Amino acid sequence: MPIVRGKDIEVLFSASAIARRNLELAKEIAERDYRDLLVISVLKGSFIFAADLIRAMHDVGISPEVEFIMISSYGAGTTSGEIKVLRDIDNDVTGRDILLIDDILESGKTLKFTRDLMLSRGANSVSIAVLLDKHTRRQAELNADFVGFECPDYFVVGYGMDVAHAFRELPFVGIVKGDA
Ligand code: IMP
Ligand code: MG
Repeated sequence: MPIVRGKDIEVLFSASAIARRNLELAKEIAERDYRDLLVISVLKGSFIFAADLIRAMHDVGISPEVEFIMISSYGAGTTSGEIKVLRDIDNDVTGRDILLIDDILESGKTLKFTRDLMLSRGANSVSIAVLLDKHTRRQAELNADFVGFECPDYFVVGYGMDVAHAFRELPFVGIVKGDA
C-alpha cells in the first residue's frame, strides 16, 4: 500500500486503469455527434480528470473548447444545501453542445444545478462525464452520459480529489486507511 503524508492509502483505481478507461470514454464521446463542443471542467475536483480526458479526446479526433466553472458544494450533501457559482465561465453557451466534466457524481445536486444553469442560458445540449459514480447516494434526478467507474460508497481521494485539501496530487484514486 502506498504511504502518503504518513497515511496508508489503498489503491482503488490505478493510474493505468484510469488512463485506459479515459481512452474508452473519449471513444464513447466521439460516437456522439457533438457540434461546436464546449467542455466545462467543474472545479476543483475535476482538474486532473478533465486534463487527461480532453487529451484522450484529442487522440480520437475531437477538438473542443475548454472552460472552467467553480461551484460551491457547501452543504450539497444535505437537503438544505445551497449551491452557488463561485467562479463562472467566460463563454456564451447559447446554441452550444456542452460537456460537463466532474470528478464524482454523488447526490447529483451540483451537476443538476450546473446543467440547469447552462440550459437556462440557452445551451443546445448538456451532457455529463464523470470519473466516478456513487450511484447509491443519488438524490437528484440525474445520471451521467459517460461514467469512468462505478464507485463503492467510500470517501475517495486522489486524481484531483481531496480530503481537507490534501491528496489531490495522487496519480490514482484511493481510500485513506489510517496511520501507516
Ligand atoms: P454531489 O453529486 O452534488 O453530491 O457532489 C459531488 C461532489 O462532492 C463531487 O464533485 C466532489 O467534489 C465531492 N465528493 C463527493 N464524494 C467525494 C469523495 O469520496 N471524495 C472527494 N470528494 C467527493
Ligand atoms: Mg466536485
